[in-house]
Amino acid sequence: MTPSTPRVSLGHFPTPLQKLERLSELLGGPEIWGKRDDLTGLATGGNKTRKLEYLLGDALAQGATTVITTGAPQSNHARQTAAAAARYGLRCVLVLASMAPPNITGNLLLDHLVGAHVRWAGERDRYEVMEEVAAEERAAGRTPYIIPYGGSNAIGASAYVQAMDELIRQMHEQDLHFDHIVLATSSGGTQAGLITGARALNFRGRILGISVDKTADVLSPHILELAQLTATHLGFRFELRPEAVKVNDDYLGGGYGVMGKPEKEAIFLLARTEGLLVDPVYTGRAMAGLLDLIRKGAFSSGEKILFWHTGGIPALFAYAEQLLS
Ligand SMILES: Cc1ncc(COP(=O)(O)O)c(C=O)c1O
Repeated sequence: MTPSTPRVSLGHFPTPLQKLERLSELLGGPEIWGKRDDLTGLATGGNKTRKLEYLLGDALAQGATTVITTGAPQSNHARQTAAAAARYGLRCVLVLASMAPPNITGNLLLDHLVGAHVRWAGERDRYEVMEEVAAEERAAGRTPYIIPYGGSNAIGASAYVQAMDELIRQMHEQDLHFDHIVLATSSGGTQAGLITGARALNFRGRILGISVDKTADVLSPHILELAQLTATHLGFRFELRPEAVKVNDDYLGGGYGVMGKPEKEAIFLLARTEGLLVDPVYTGRAMAGLLDLIRKGAFSSGEKILFWHTGGIPALFAYAEQLLS
């Protein structure tokens, strides 16, 4: 990361490392820790806060006055983008998939509270709608800046190279090491940044992304390409190999955003053993995958696993009825 990389301040860093003692004991296998990026602090936090420090830095350096991004109706990325825009006095337009739901809750409620303008894309291509919005903004004399889905380009992913550096410093300070990092992966920027950071900083553990919505044959090459682009963006000259990208797609369940039994079990288990919240779409699914892998004996009992908690908590409220049924 060069000192000239434009960056704004949005979150509270370093995020804590927390040993999940009761959960580890209950499972009787490896030691499980959490990296609490759910506590980054931007309108409840999450992994996009890190990416947005760089993306908004770039937007402001380019003279943007409006940021435009896209996501699902309960997008955590959209909510954090809208909050970041509010913090820096920018206009924000969110192009959200499908139609307005009957209830405004969870992330969507927060989008409204922080003043985002929501455009429902229906069945239309969301990138096309974002370009239309950008043209409207230009016509109104404003300067738009489009942030891709998930904030997952080289600029956004470079935040997770920095996050790997943060983790390594914490490991030194606390005399810790991790054999595995496990995280929820979707648009791939978080995992790509961690992979690039691991290579650049010589982190020896394995990084496993549990896919929430795409098959590994689609997601893995995308992450590899993004990790390589991120390395180039930061001036690293190494070449990453496909083996660096580990994606598990065994836990796709009923598809994106469909909370099934495993996610529900993970949400209740974590809440009741650790007082720790995971969400129905991302971290609950990744945790359900991790629990299953531990129960199947995929890790040995002497190992240490870091669950990189990427946030998503507001979505819990949008699933209240299903959680309590
Ligand atoms: C809570 C949460 N976890 C994980 C992810 C996945 O991160 P990425 O899109 O960088 O793969 C997201 C993305 O929206 C998210 O909101």
